[in-house]
Amino acid sequence: MVDCRRAFTIRERKRKGSVRTPKKVINAMDGVTLTVHQGEIFGLLGPNACGKTTTLRCLSTLDCPDAGDIRIFGLDARAHPDIARQVIGVVEQSAGVDKVLTGREHLQLFAGLNHIPRERAARNIAYLIEVLHLTEFIDRQTGTYSGGVVRRLDIALGLLNNPGLLILDEPTVGLDLASRAVIWDVLRAVRDGGGTIILTSHYLEEVEYLADRVAIMDRGNILAVGTPSSLKSAVGGTRVTIRLEEFTAVGDAQRVATALVDRGVATSAIVNEGLGNAIEAVVSGVGKDAVEAVVAVVRAAGWPEMFGFSHSRPSLGDVYLQATGSVLGDVDQAAKAARNAVQMRKESMR
Ligand SMILES: Nc1ncnc2c1ncn2[C@@H]1O[C@H](COP(=O)(O)OP(=O)(O)OP(=O)(O)O)[C@@H](O)[C@H]1O
Ligand SMILES: [Mg+2]
Repeated sequence: MVDCRRAFTIRERKRKGSVRTPKKVINAMDGVTLTVHQGEIFGLLGPNACGKTTTLRCLSTLDCPDAGDIRIFGLDARAHPDIARQVIGVVEQSAGVDKVLTGREHLQLFAGLNHIPRERAARNIAYLIEVLHLTEFIDRQTGTYSGGVVRRLDIALGLLNNPGLLILDEPTVGLDLASRAVIWDVLRAVRDGGGTIILTSHYLEEVEYLADRVAIMDRGNILAVGTPSSLKSAVGGTRVTIRLEEFTAVGDAQRVATALVDRGVATSAIVNEGLGNAIEAVVSGVGKDAVEAVVAVVRAAGWPEMFGFSHSRPSLGDVYLQATGSVLGDVDQAAKAARNAVQMRKESMR
């Protein structure tokens, strides 16, 4: 259970001269209240800088909230961080492996540091190497690993101590589908064995597939919590994607999106730049009438023929859209993956 606040005070530096800007306060966790049930996978979904990592760092006792309460299996984690750490496994957002050591040496070192009895450590290491498909890499120096293999080793390290609570910050960002699937299988097996997992993600399909419950976070706040299906049915209605032209001008798309909301046809409508300025709308009604109402508004706005039109039941993306007013889009994901690739390249050159 997390119920706390965390703000950072920063001062931006000017490039030239000695002018100092006033201090700026960032409310990374603006009163985040979350309860994760034992034996579930809980997904924290949100855009860049919304406070996911800060929440997980506070929960894993790596950062200290300014105020509030953190209880892990009933234990006051702020008062007893050392005890709390014994039941937590943490996989941080950026990998922290030593390039000179092999994967196996990392696992053995970690087992020693955590005083895991030798036999149990050997058993766990053998199991994790197998389920995370690490056999072929485990006796090579980690400096030679690809990003996906490093991530799998990170997860093995997080799981080595059989933690009651596993905390993962974007475990699969930038990985190919095969690597992600390996990680998903392992996480589901941990949950099915009674483990509790909290993870952050940018990938809607990942959260949909893995999480028993989801929280949508934006600007330091939790906007919605529930099972993916309950959140989707709460959105209700129909989701519509409209492409006015193959490459629509953003102003045109915006005008039609505004008209859909102003006329009371859509509860929300935004322009998705990642989809050639397509309009993504959530329409209150269902069936033929709802679709016809949308088409009528688009025609009246000056678009008798559309390039593309599709409709479906609400997705987790629509839940996100309704909660935050934006799309957790490809733009975010691409920026993140690119950042990761640059980071990895830099690290491999060191
Ligand atoms: N140590 C710090 N000092 C100053 N500001 C910080 C610090 N850590 C985080 N922040 C700020 O707090 C806000 C939340 O950051 P956080 O890392 O929790 O976001 P996030 O949701 O994990 O983002 P991302 O998806 O990019 O990983 C951001 O505005 C960030 O700049
Ligand atoms: Mg983060």
